[in-house]
This record gives sequence, C-alpha cells and structure tokens, in this order.
Amino acid sequence: MAKSREEINQTEKDYWNEAKLDRRKIKKLRRHAFFYSYKREKKILQQLLEDFNDKEVLEIGSYTWSFWFNKNTKPKKLTCINISEVELENGKKLAENQNFSIAHFLMDANELTFKDESFDIVFGGAILHHLDVEKSIGHIHRVLKPNGKIVFLEPLNMNPIYKIYRKLNPKERTPDEHALVSSDFKIIKKKFTFNHYFFDFFSVVFGFIALKLFGDKNYNNWINKLGYNLDVFFSKIPFLHFLFARVIIFGSKK
Ligand SMILES: C[S@@+](CC[C@H](N)C(=O)[O-])C[C@H]1O[C@@H](n2cnc3c(N)ncnc32)[C@H](O)[C@@H]1O
Repeated sequence: MAKSREEINQTEKDYWNEAKLDRRKIKKLRRHAFFYSYKREKKILQQLLEDFNDKEVLEIGSYTWSFWFNKNTKPKKLTCINISEVELENGKKLAENQNFSIAHFLMDANELTFKDESFDIVFGGAILHHLDVEKSIGHIHRVLKPNGKIVFLEPLNMNPIYKIYRKLNPKERTPDEHALVSSDFKIIKKKFTFNHYFFDFFSVVFGFIALKLFGDKNYNNWINKLGYNLDVFFSKIPFLHFLFARVIIFGSKK
C-alpha cells in the first residue's frame, strides 16, 4: 500500500534528524568527477543570484544559501524552512552574523503556510525531489508574487545507469525521495516558464576512469576535462537530457 504523505514526512524528519544517510562511497567520485561541472554550476548560479538582491527570498531548505550566496548577495529578507529540527538548527548556526535578515520556520514544504504572493524568489538545492512535486510546486506558485521566480538544483533519475546505481546503494538516500523525471518537469512547466542547464553524464563516466588512473584529489586532468566538455556540448541536445545526473531549473511564475 502506498505510504501517506504524513508517513513520508515523518520518515524524512527522522532520517535528517538522526543523520541516517551514508554517502561516504559516492563522495569521493563526486568530488573527482564533478570538479569542472561544480565550477560551471557556480558560474551559472552566480548569474541567477544577481536577481536576489533586495528581494523577498524563500529557501525551501535551510542552508543551500550558505553555499550559493557570495559576498554581494544581499536579499531584503531570506526566509528558510525545513521539516527537520536538526537541519533547521544547522541553517540557523550558519545564519549567525550575516549582514541581511534571515528567518527560520519548521514547516512542511508541501503545505506552506505563508500568505499568497509573499515572495519574489523561491529556491532550493536537492530539495524538490524530497517533496510531493505537484503539491509543493502548487504552494511555491501560490506564495510567489506575479512574475516571481524559481531556481532549483536537483538530481535526476532518468538514465538507466543511475537508476541501477541507486537501487544498489539505498543507504545514500531517504526511502521515499525520487530524483526528478520528465513527468516532474511537466508539473513544473504547467505553472512556470522552464529553463534549464543539465550536468554530469560523461563527466561521471570519465571521472570514474580518471579516479582509477590518477587517484583521488588529482582532479585537474585531461580525462576529467574531456568528460566535462562532452557534457557541455551534449547537454544542449534535448533528446539526450535523460542521460544527465543533475539539472538547474529556473523560470518565472505563469
Ligand atoms: C538532500 S537535503 C538538502 C538540504 C537543503 N539543501 C537545505 O539547505 O536544507 C533534503 C532536505 O529536505 C528536507 N525535507 C524533506 N522533506 C521535507 C518537507 N516535506 N518539507 C521541508 N523540508 C523537507 C530534509 O529535512 C533535508 O534537509
């Protein structure tokens, strides 16, 4: 029988409050294979972040802002939410001594309790895929002002290789999370204009080989660079998007 949303929320809360995930295995490969794509990601995000200044901004999640924001990012106010007390507390610690106003709320992103049209921008990193996409996107749309914007960085689960990897390594994920697939894109497209940058197919395959050949921490090598360049080229071809591991989605409220 399908789990209820309450059961899923409770499982998510427990997993994050008790730090139950074990991502040690994938960490090394990610660090290696994503060396160049992290730089590309950063550059793209910096451009998107230019819109955040002097705006009412909502993060779905509690600390992605601390990775994304640079010294010039200064929203009018940043509001952060999380369903996990521990995750929210982690965000609060990072928020000490910031030069802009930050508020934190323990809240379910599938049932946002903010008033309609409260925010100019809603963003998050690796969060939509922990939610009921239809419900949360509905609420995000509701709390955004007219022409309000979204920015999300999410993992994908369309490539058969990644699907098999995920099945073989369940401890790296919460039981109910679902990296995004094309049906999730359709839900988002109904309510938002939909722009995207896809990341990481060849860089994972080539990064795996480079890690074996050159060893950990030797990221800056020609195999990694080739994988990255192939990704940038092939990510522009729509019917190959299913190959990629991550996506930045950005758009405006319809
Ligand atoms: C992969 S982590 C990403 C962390 C995120 N980038 C942040 O800054 O908090 C997934 C996060 O989703 C949160 N989460 C899961 N279900 C949620 C829900 N229904 N409402 C709000 N947060 C939720 C978890 O507590 C966890 O912090």
